Amino acid sequence: MSESTVRSPSAVERVLGLLREPPGEPDTSTGYLDLLGPSAQPSPSLAQSAMESAFLPQIYERVWRPVGFNLAKGWPIGPDTATEHAMARDWLGLSHPGYAARPPATVLDVACGPGNVTRALAEGVGRDGLVIGLDTSQTMLARAVEDTANAGVCYVRGDAVDLPFRDGTFDAVCCFGALYLFDDPWTAVDGMTRVLKPGGRLIILTSRRPTPLRAARIGGELLRRATGLTVFGDREITGALADRGYTAIRQHRYPLMQMVGGRRGRPLP
Ligand SMILES: C[S@@+](CC[C@H](N)C(=O)[O-])C[C@H]1O[C@@H](n2cnc3c(N)ncnc32)[C@H](O)[C@@H]1O
Repeated sequence: MSESTVRSPSAVERVLGLLREPPGEPDTSTGYLDLLGPSAQPSPSLAQSAMESAFLPQIYERVWRPVGFNLAKGWPIGPDTATEHAMARDWLGLSHPGYAARPPATVLDVACGPGNVTRALAEGVGRDGLVIGLDTSQTMLARAVEDTANAGVCYVRGDAVDLPFRDGTFDAVCCFGALYLFDDPWTAVDGMTRVLKPGGRLIILTSRRPTPLRAARIGGELLRRATGLTVFGDREITGALADRGYTAIRQHRYPLMQMVGGRRGRPLP
């Protein structure tokens, strides 16, 4: 075969090469790579049950996401969805839609839902880049596949708290609107750190407790018990990144959300 006829690997083939334990018979029958299969347990939390429903993915991107998140970010003063996407691309060192010089970055979007942020990240990546959206919800992923035409995007059904990728794989990791849903957010942050290359960038958009008052902490704990949602204090996420050796840590605070980013530290020589 001449060099010009060598087929470049598909996004799924590239993803398989990034896995710690690639499956012998990859299941892509749904349009995404399913690493959980039928044995995956349904989530016990009320919040995650909504994410698994057939209804929410249908209204998520047009109604639920802009209304809920923009209010939590303090709209009209806080960033709207387009600004949020541009911030994500900036903080992750990606480029912007239509720019000629877009990096061939390998990017992971953790808990991608219907792929709304995944697609926005893919617009900041060059043709040789790869953007992977990972989620547990079959209904969210089905919608993501339906709405995505970009050949450089691949969706994976997997667990954010036990990421299936090899160490030091990604230039950038994004986790928007999901850390507060995880049973063990700190193990998830450990995993995101593990899969980042040294010097790679992480960005997290998550909940924020608007006041350090004890009553707010008690209210947050009651909410967590009732729904499974965690509300994070102002120093919890920045502190978690500092503890894990991140540099250039930055934070934007909104009334009920916070955006936190940083660069994974390089190991000492
Ligand atoms: C609110 S949506 C966020 C979607 C998108 N990232 C955004 O910013 O709009 C939260 C997503 O987190 C996913 N999720 C929750 N727990 C997860 C886990 N342990 N592993 C992977 N995805 C998870 C849910 O299935 C849901 O699709």
